[in-house]
Amino acid sequence: EEESLKALYKDAFHIGAAVNPLTIDSQRSLLAYHFNSLTAENEMKFSSLHPEENLYTFENADVIAAFAREQGMALRGHTLVWHNQTPDWLFENETGGKAERDLLLERLRSHIQTVVGRYKDVIYCWDVVNEVISDENDESAFLRPSKWLDIVGEDFIAKAFEFAHEADPQALLFYNDYNESNPHKRERIYRLVRSLLDQGVPIHGVGLQAHWNLYDPTLDDMRAAIERYAKLGLQLQLTELDVSVFRFDDRRTELTRPEKGMLELQAERYESIFRLLYEYREHISAVTFWGAADDYTWLDHFPVRGRKNWPFLFDESHAPKPAYERVAQIPKRA
Ligand code: G3I
Repeated sequence: EEESLKALYKDAFHIGAAVNPLTIDSQRSLLAYHFNSLTAENEMKFSSLHPEENLYTFENADVIAAFAREQGMALRGHTLVWHNQTPDWLFENETGGKAERDLLLERLRSHIQTVVGRYKDVIYCWDVVNEVISDENDESAFLRPSKWLDIVGEDFIAKAFEFAHEADPQALLFYNDYNESNPHKRERIYRLVRSLLDQGVPIHGVGLQAHWNLYDPTLDDMRAAIERYAKLGLQLQLTELDVSVFRFDDRRTELTRPEKGMLELQAERYESIFRLLYEYREHISAVTFWGAADDYTWLDHFPVRGRKNWPFLFDESHAPKPAYERVAQIPKRA
């Protein structure tokens, strides 16, 4: 059997995987052997946990928390504030109009108290706020338009961190985003986190989602992003790593297995990525993949529904791919 990733990287950072109740079942031994950190893929998002004002649904999240406890794995909480997978009731008042700022903030505080409180014993860090920075190229763009921003104003972000800190003063609190290596977005993320720190907001880390592919972003942009965020003095984590075999604008759907060369290119790509991460291991505390093996990935439904992808280090039968071999070599040679 191959060497376990978590053992190989034990002196560098946690090796994590996003899971759901189905993959905890179908990928159980792979997860237990290679990974020492977990994130719930969907089960701890607002609409999964709290679909109606007076209804919490914890069953699926509890399955994931129980697996982490049983295996002694670290668990990351994902996510408290987002523009997606958030129920409409939250933004409406009793008469069906737009909720008032105080009402929305009180609902957020209460949600955070309940959810963060429930998993306090096992979740050591939370993605408190997810994806609030704009993707627009326009120089003046900063925050993404959302109901949070519209109703509360910019301080919904600071408030969320304060509520989370109140609910669990020991938890590490992260800001998490994608396209984090894009130079424009990188500077906006830096500016947001810098200003939170300057205001004394309790924030402890930056999550780089790292939804990457064989070609983008460039290694230089990844390095520049890590360098820049490291200057904030916070810990960094890769929170949702995958390396799609397709360019972002590639909409082909006919492949039933990877094309010749794709897996070799992917192995080279993963090797350069992990060399970089290993080099910055003093700053990086965890590297979480957004899945574990190629039999299950959200990319099978994005950006084209039903188009198979092969983004991980393990194949559809959980055997190590060429990319695994390259990644495993790095800490051994160091
Ligand atoms: O649960 C329903 C099911 O009942 C229904 O039959 C099925 C039909 O489409 O949909 C199911 O819901 C899907 C859900 O995943 C659970 O599988 C949603 O359509 C689908 O949109 C949703 O996608 C999730 C996505 O977030 C939503 O934005 C992905 O699984 C999840 O991997 C993805 O994760 C996000 C991170 O949270 C934040 N960063 C980006 C990342 C990838 O998009």
